[in-house]
Amino acid sequence: VEPHVVTDVLIVGSGPAGASAALALSTYGVPNIVVTRYARLADTPRAHITNQRTMEVLRDLGVEDEVVAKATPQHLMGDTTFCTSLAGEELGRVRSWGNDPLVQAAHELASPTRMCDMPQHLMEPVLIDAAVARGTNLRFSTVYKSFVQDADGVTVTVEDRLRGDEYTIRAKYLIGADGGRSQVAEDAGLPMGGQMGVAGSINIVFDADLTKYTAHRPSTLYWVLAPGATVGGIGAGLVRCVRPWNEWLIVWGYDVTAGAPDLTTEYAESIVRKLIGDDEIPVTVKSSSAWTVNEMYAETYSHGRVFCAGDATHRHPPSNGLGSNTSIQDSYNLAWKLKLVLDGTASPRLLDTYTAERAPIGRQIVTRANKSIGETAPVFEALDGLSPQTPEQLWANIAARKDATEAAEKQRARLREAIAFKVYEFNAHGVDLNQRYASEAIVPDGTPDPGFDRDPELYHQPSTRPGARLPHAWLTSGTRTLSTLDTVGQGRFTLITGIGGDHWTRAAEAQDPAITTVVIGPGRQYEDPYGDWARLSEMADGGALLVRPDGYVAFRHATAAASAEDAERLLTAALRRILGHA
Ligand code: FDA
Repeated sequence: VEPHVVTDVLIVGSGPAGASAALALSTYGVPNIVVTRYARLADTPRAHITNQRTMEVLRDLGVEDEVVAKATPQHLMGDTTFCTSLAGEELGRVRSWGNDPLVQAAHELASPTRMCDMPQHLMEPVLIDAAVARGTNLRFSTVYKSFVQDADGVTVTVEDRLRGDEYTIRAKYLIGADGGRSQVAEDAGLPMGGQMGVAGSINIVFDADLTKYTAHRPSTLYWVLAPGATVGGIGAGLVRCVRPWNEWLIVWGYDVTAGAPDLTTEYAESIVRKLIGDDEIPVTVKSSSAWTVNEMYAETYSHGRVFCAGDATHRHPPSNGLGSNTSIQDSYNLAWKLKLVLDGTASPRLLDTYTAERAPIGRQIVTRANKSIGETAPVFEALDGLSPQTPEQLWANIAARKDATEAAEKQRARLREAIAFKVYEFNAHGVDLNQRYASEAIVPDGTPDPGFDRDPELYHQPSTRPGARLPHAWLTSGTRTLSTLDTVGQGRFTLITGIGGDHWTRAAEAQDPAITTVVIGPGRQYEDPYGDWARLSEMADGGALLVRPDGYVAFRHATAAASAEDAERLLTAALRRILGHA
């Protein structure tokens, strides 16, 4: 039977991974269809922390301003508080998400973008609306059932839930962005490491005006050390701001071996009351749902013409806020590769670099997120509050830290240290920005891996070595100020050079596909008035960087080319390797 519908790329799922894949592909002019199970996008807040790298991706895809307008801004995210309840005793705070003055400076130096808090039910419409406006065909109430693939494409059977019948879609490539229970990843037989269902958690979404307990210490997260808070879940009770200061989400654990509790409104309200600690505050519970903490990652992200992205390939707890960020970044890595293979510019071998580049990141973030859960325990330990914890015992330990004794002073120090150590969850700037790639789409320049001068999880370290993200520096062009990152992207390769780099620019303009050229220097297209780029570029003025459409450096030559022929030869060889023709 001939398939009913034909497209270049079929995307299953409209979450952050699927919606951003659709947006990038439509931006690049690649025909695509999204099918998604429900008649709506996400109806609960879910993922929210949106890091600088994701904001850079959204900036390139033209939706940064809209996200900034709808998100909670960075300065309202950062007073991460540990307390016995919102109305109860405060045990300490961590300045988080780039709000520590030193980390804030690091954020400003690292990127033209700012972190923000963009709940998933607000993020998905921004991505999907822009995708549809640029050409994506979106089918709600449509469920992926199965696929068969051959040498030329994938035939996918889907079910129309409104009509109750099935039809097939023929696509050249299939993207499984179908989340943590991915059927596509299972049908593609993607090998997985780790385990599912490590611990149990409950999300409770509710309305309540909590201004009086939160506005003076504005934060996305309030961690509650209450009796029972170490059972299952994410290491403590959590009150998360959805909209300041009247819409909230509570995360509370349950014993996964005993199964999820009955999620009645009474049960949900009892948890909300316990964590707020003030029965006078009116509360409206909107929804509650149970989920499990997972620790799983795919070793391979594709099988033939089928590619998976997002939670389909990495499943982990919300700690560090990496879920939606990593999902969007996966799709951004994949989309330009699909485009160049589909339009015949690149060999399908380019697509093999997707696993090579993203699977190590997936494993890293799954490990980090789970480690962050464990790192909450020392906060309880400092209060001798790990099980058995009767309420009386925990309250007595918390009160004891106020005594004028040597033991109490030690306890205060332990508590301070335990809370401060949570920077690995709340200020892990390196985890957000230090992703480096090694694959066939990166041409080594013979320099040794410089590694990292400081803790690579906490501190971002820019580099122009092939495999690193292009460092951000402010440039000017006439009266305009723009980032180096604004000169690249938009689906194109870009060559960056300076005065003395004429051989490179001529060689770049002669390539097919044509490479955009950027020349930085006094009197040129872009100037470097602060000298920031000169400090970061790690090359002579006449050297050259070839930057991929996703902002990653693919090739570097630290000095001017010896001749026009040399530039031509080196650049052609680099591009052939990147595009899989070598
Ligand atoms: P995501 O799960 O978002 O999207 C999957 C998409 O595929 C959905 O549109 C779904 O309907 C669709 N789909 C699935 N199967 C299909 C099929 N067979 N056919 C068609 N469509 C299909 N993270 C965080 O950082 N903080 C948090 O508090 C939370 N809370 C949270 C709560 C709940 C209830 C969930 C489910 C998840 C979270 N997360 C979270 C995790 C976060 O939501 C997650 O990391 C990202 O949404 C991953 O994005 P994806 O696009 O990969 O999957």
